[in-house]
Amino acid sequence: RRLDNGAKPLAGKKAIVTSGPTHEPIDPVRYIANRSSGRQGHAIAAALAALGADVTLVSGPVSIPDPAGLNVIHVERAEEMRDAVLAALPADIAVMVAAVADWRVASASDQKIKKHPGESIPTLALTENPDILKTVGHHTQRPKLVIGFAAETQDVESNARAKLERKGADFIVANDVSPSTGIMGGTRNRVKIISHDGVEQWPDLDKDEVATRLAALIAGTIMQR
Ligand code: CTP
Ligand code: CA
Repeated sequence: RRLDNGAKPLAGKKAIVTSGPTHEPIDPVRYIANRSSGRQGHAIAAALAALGADVTLVSGPVSIPDPAGLNVIHVERAEEMRDAVLAALPADIAVMVAAVADWRVASASDQKIKKHPGESIPTLALTENPDILKTVGHHTQRPKLVIGFAAETQDVESNARAKLERKGADFIVANDVSPSTGIMGGTRNRVKIISHDGVEQWPDLDKDEVATRLAALIAGTIMQR
């Protein structure tokens, strides 16, 4: 089958994509967050939809618009994101792009925490968040194709390969998110695709171009299986 001439190679396939950061509340007015813009995840959701997939995009809080023509579920916390992803199963494809907070505040306050100058300074006790990719990668309703990202600032390839194994993914899209790269929050991305077959380095591309290529890779892989 051809991927050109307006063909819809993912017609009839269901995809779940996570995108953006999560916000983990400290109290009603404060939260823990990260620098993810949602640009890469949203672009991937749109690129899969353009190939005909029925896409559910589970998005953390972002300032970019919802892509047109797909089902968008807005969440704030990692636990909400996990619940929305599991509710969207079964699916053929899962692409977990969100920068999910690894920890949340163990007991968020339901009142604004007040300062007491010169007295006690609060400390935040954290607890681990659910690993959504790992949950999906080992699920009884595991999608045929499970793809994760690996945001690294060092040892990109070996860390990504470890994530491939640990999380039960078919591909890991690895990127160097060191502040000097400008990738986190920026419009461009330079990734390596890690699979059980090896590593492929992609050139420096616009996040939309990374999304288009990844959607084509997904379509090609799904058709082989
Ligand atoms: N991920 C997830 N749920 C989490 C943490 C991560 O679904 N609680 C997913 C991300 O969406 C990404 C992949 O797992 O697809 C890797 O995320 P990353 O933060 O790079 O890896 P971690 O396993 O959290 O390890 P670390 O942050 O220590 O590198
Ligand atoms: Ca993490």
